[in-house]
Amino acid sequence: MRASEVTDGIFRLSANIGSDILFEGIWPLPHGAAMNSYIVKGREVAIVDGVCGWDGVPETLYAQMEQIGVDVKDIRYVIINHTEPDHTGWLKSFQEITRDFEVVITQKGLDLAKAFYSLDVKFRTVASGDGIDLGNGRKLVFEETPNVHWPDTMVTFEPSTGTLMPCDAFGTFGAIGEAPCDDQLDESQLRFFEMEALRYYANIVARFSPSVIRAIEKVKGLDVRIIAPGHGPIWRKDPRRIVRLYERFAAFAKGPAEPIVTVLWGTMYGNTGQAVPPVVDGIVSEGVEAVVHQAPQTHISDILASAWKSTGIVLAMPTYEYKMFPPMAMVVDELGRKSVKGKLALRLGSFGWSGGAQAELDEIIERHKMGWRFLEQVEFKGAASAEQLELLYLRGKELARQVKEAALPVG
Ligand SMILES: Cc1cc2nc3c(=O)[nH]c(=O)nc-3n(C[C@H](O)[C@H](O)[C@H](O)COP(=O)(O)O)c2cc1C
Ligand SMILES: [Fe+2]
Ligand SMILES: [Fe+2]
Repeated sequence: MRASEVTDGIFRLSANIGSDILFEGIWPLPHGAAMNSYIVKGREVAIVDGVCGWDGVPETLYAQMEQIGVDVKDIRYVIINHTEPDHTGWLKSFQEITRDFEVVITQKGLDLAKAFYSLDVKFRTVASGDGIDLGNGRKLVFEETPNVHWPDTMVTFEPSTGTLMPCDAFGTFGAIGEAPCDDQLDESQLRFFEMEALRYYANIVARFSPSVIRAIEKVKGLDVRIIAPGHGPIWRKDPRRIVRLYERFAAFAKGPAEPIVTVLWGTMYGNTGQAVPPVVDGIVSEGVEAVVHQAPQTHISDILASAWKSTGIVLAMPTYEYKMFPPMAMVVDELGRKSVKGKLALRLGSFGWSGGAQAELDEIIERHKMGWRFLEQVEFKGAASAEQLELLYLRGKELARQVKEAALPVG
């Protein structure tokens, strides 16, 4: 991987993590992910964000610095927008090379950095509006954006070039080759990164959507011409494109989203399973897209992305030991943890003697204050009858009609 120029005096360094890694120990990366770091060169040199500390990764950063004529020891300021180890892990290695640098960080970040790393260097705490003059016309201005994605987060802005370095905000999954900027990517590649942005958003940032909205409002007060995030492509041809996408994703937090229904189902012996196709047929008959995922076969990462962009959700599962079929209980619980709220929903499923799945579902929805609006459930003893299958088709239709009405207008 080579360093690349973002704009005059600002360079991107980067390391990709591969498909063998689970991001945050949970999220698969079938297409990898990029950790971006930025060098800003004035008379003094600053590095904004960094990379993780895994074996060999900091060294790739140092090699890229060399390519742009920066000696590791030239770095005067290390700007930590966000203390999470995917951006700060390299500091342990860096501290072994030099201690003649200052860490620039928010007050909350300082507290976290001290807890994660015993860095024996100078710290400078900054707040919104503070800045550093690097000389030669390059300045860095900081704006706190708490809870995108940790409480410590801020963004760094370089006014003369209009470059915003917002770390996790406006990020995407997906590894990046030698062409990191939107003007170097064709439309299908940009669409790929937009898909990866959805999964990144739903997996990592969704829970913090109100903070994302606040951060976007703050950023709008700056004359941003380039967005250079900590993950994913750099947006310099059309920075509004990723801002609009993030605004849309953040808006989905209220519930209404795309005119799509995500159908989540699990079954032991097929009784619940055979009741799913009529529901899907009913949904599709209304011209609404149904995205079907089986639990536990589909990874929760994909389920979250699908649920986040859907206005409607179907949950189909039988009763298992007086509760929900466990993989579906885990799915609904995870949707609650990630604040998938305000969806239109339908639950169906089979039981043998006592039932119990519905009561547990009600409990999870209530516990996470998910506020889903359910159509009347369809539960059946053993196999669903022909009448029940017909009823399910009609419920699918009804759900789709409601979804069409509630979905956000195409953005
Ligand atoms: C391990 C196991 C546990 C079950 N626990 C219950 C239960 O607590 N209450 C109940 O009403 N039925 C229970 N059942 C019966 C199932 O809900 C019933 O067989 C249902 O038709 C299974 O649906 P499926 O074919 O979609 O897996 C259990 C079945 C199995 C195999
Ligand atoms: Fe993060
Ligand atoms: Fe990150």
